[in-house]
Amino acid sequence: MRSANLDERRWTDPTKLDIRRAEGGHAAFALGQHRCLGEWLGRQEVAIGTARLFARLPSLRLQPDEHVELYGFEFRGPRSLKVQWDV
Ligand code: HEM
Repeated sequence: MRSANLDERRWTDPTKLDIRRAEGGHAAFALGQHRCLGEWLGRQEVAIGTARLFARLPSLRLQPDEHVELYGFEFRGPRSLKVQWDV
C-alpha cells in the first residue's frame, strides 16, 4: 500500500472516504514549515460550500446504483459523481 495518508497501520480502511473519521494526523495540507498557508481558507470553503449546497438541495444524494471510486495520488477524488434530488 502507498504511504502518507494511506498507511493502513495508522488509519482504519484508509482508502474509504469517511467524513466522520476520528483518526487525525493526515498530511493533506503537508507538514512542517511548508504546511499549506491556505488550510483554514480551504476548510472554510468546503464547510460553507457544502452547507449552502445542502440548504438549496436538501434531498441531494448519490444515485442508488452509483459506486464511487476515488482516483489520484496527491489529489484524490471521483472522476464523476452521479447524483439526484427531488424538485
Ligand atoms: C483543500 C484545499 C487545499 C489543499 C488540499 C492544499 C494542500 C497543500 C499542500 C499539500 C501544500 C504543500 C505543497 C508542497 O510542499 O509541495 C500546500 C502549500 C501551500 N498552499 Fe495549499 N492547499 C489547499 C488550499 C489552499 C488555499 C485556498 C490557499 C491560498 C488561498 C493555499 C495556499 C498555499 C500556499 C501559499 C502554500 C505554500 C506554503 C509554503 O510552501 O510555505 N492552499 N497546500
